[in-house]
Amino acid sequence: MTQLTIAMPKGRIFEEAYEMLLEAGFNLPEEVEMSRKLMIEIPEENISFILAKPMDVPVYVEHGVADIGIAGKDVLLEQRRTVHELLDLKISECYIASAGLPNTTINEIAPRIATKYPNIAMKYYKGIGEQVEIIELNGSIELAPMIGLADRIVDIVSTGRTLKENGLVEYEHIAEVSSRLIANPVSYRMKSDRIQDLVTRLKKCVK
Ligand code: PRP
Repeated sequence: MTQLTIAMPKGRIFEEAYEMLLEAGFNLPEEVEMSRKLMIEIPEENISFILAKPMDVPVYVEHGVADIGIAGKDVLLEQRRTVHELLDLKISECYIASAGLPNTTINEIAPRIATKYPNIAMKYYKGIGEQVEIIELNGSIELAPMIGLADRIVDIVSTGRTLKENGLVEYEHIAEVSSRLIANPVSYRMKSDRIQDLVTRLKKCVK
């Protein structure tokens, strides 16, 4: 059986993604003990998992050190890497929106937008003819309007709790997000049988 290396997102998406692989009938340990191990070998299936930061999954796949990966559409839209998007797994569904303090209009010449998605934000505001200044942050984006660093944020909304608890409201709905199965283009050709089998099996588990 051809060896397959799969880059998995560490953290909250991991469990849902792993659950799907179990459902698809892969002979994997029921519980992966979330130790600090960053590589897990499954000799029974000839699969290796690389546990990566979600933002790094497409990097491993583009460089071919992972054949396959599970990546959020947010990351794919932001990075535009050379990978094939094979399947929408419809897990970890959320969306990208702009938000800010209630009842505020952005009428400055170049409103400041805080985000960890500078490309998505730039493209969105360009599309609506708005010239903005992007302030790139790595997390806790919701802080920015509260402390006067930015007029708006562009970020992921899942349950909406973070916005609510920080007194922010949503303004514009920018894009739908869910996890996608991606492949390295060379692996996709060279290991097509194995990858096609994975896609077919996972497709049956998409809800
Ligand atoms: C994400 C996102 C929001 C939050 C949205 O942050 O950036 O802050 O989740 O989820 P909610 O709508 O269910 O509240 P994450 O927890 O990934 O951490 P971060 O602040 O480091 O980006």
